[in-house]
Amino acid sequence: MTSQKERIFSGAQPTGQLHIGNYLGALKNWVALQDEYEAFYCIVNLHAITLPQDPKTLREKTLDLARIYLAAGVDPEKSTIFIQSDVPEHAELTWVLSCVSRMGELERMTQFKDKGKGNRERAGVGLFTYPVLMAADILLYQTELVPIGKDQKQHLELTRDLAERFNRDFGETFKVPEPFIPPVGASIKSLQDPEKKMSKSDENVNGSIFLLDGADTVTKKIKRAVTDSGTTIEFDDSRPAIGNLLTMYHLLTGKTIDESVEHFRGKGYGAFKTELAEVTIEFLKPFQERVNQYDDATLSGILSTGAKKARSIAAQTLGDVYKKTGIR
Ligand code: TYM
Repeated sequence: MTSQKERIFSGAQPTGQLHIGNYLGALKNWVALQDEYEAFYCIVNLHAITLPQDPKTLREKTLDLARIYLAAGVDPEKSTIFIQSDVPEHAELTWVLSCVSRMGELERMTQFKDKGKGNRERAGVGLFTYPVLMAADILLYQTELVPIGKDQKQHLELTRDLAERFNRDFGETFKVPEPFIPPVGASIKSLQDPEKKMSKSDENVNGSIFLLDGADTVTKKIKRAVTDSGTTIEFDDSRPAIGNLLTMYHLLTGKTIDESVEHFRGKGYGAFKTELAEVTIEFLKPFQERVNQYDDATLSGILSTGAKKARSIAAQTLGDVYKKTGIR
């Protein structure tokens, strides 16, 4: 029986360590949306090699990331979880889409400028065409909605442009997807610098709470988090560090923003940080227990079932693309 539900697609890279920003900005919403939509959650290992990776570590991290999706609450009975390279249509559609992409639009991608460190001469071509692979990921599934953090918004806009251009030039082929960017938590900031997003590639590990950090580490990182001048715990544009910590508290406890501010009225930074560390640990502990809930054989079964299901849909879209472009 074919599903009548609309589709969502999202993914994360199996590089570095996933942090609480990835969870609050993206994975939390993947879980919340999986009942309402037909969901596809991909481990984007082809994206990972746009920067140098140790091959053995990459393979391990690919499987670890599947465990993290599951621990976060992605339910393999409801959602399709798969590894990008298990569905070769992703790489194939990337080629076709790269033939409709323009140098100028890829050059405008801020992530390319950041990750290429402004050195065009030495930056990898894969890093440059990275957003085209991301567009292929999304468009293969006739995706309605893409739950992402704010840093991926520009890539989603490019995806929409490529879909519209292809549809215009070759006839209606792709659904034009909408981003789902949460109103709060779409850009969790570094604990060490509230002007920067929390990032897997940050050299300063104290800026991020990793999903696999132990309780002592979490407490230490939160205690060391930079704060702003002032003493009250509330949202105020001139105090981004406290705003960031308060956002984390609000999302982790489920208390509204007003309730969170009210809760800390009259309390100081010390008490606030102690409580934020407690709620973070309370969230992470059961999460970390769930990371190993599946043995290797079960995990590999979930991923191969996922790849089979994903492939059946991806192949239809690619077949249509090849037909429309005269390739097949
Ligand atoms: P990646 O692996 O960098 O991050 C995974 C998800 O986490 C979000 N995110 C954040 N959200 C809030 N605060 C932060 N500090 C923060 N840092 C990261 C990201 O926005 C993302 O949603 N290119 C993507 C992976 C990808 C993808 C896709 C996503 C490949 N194909 C198709 C959606 C659809 C990436 O590198 O995410």
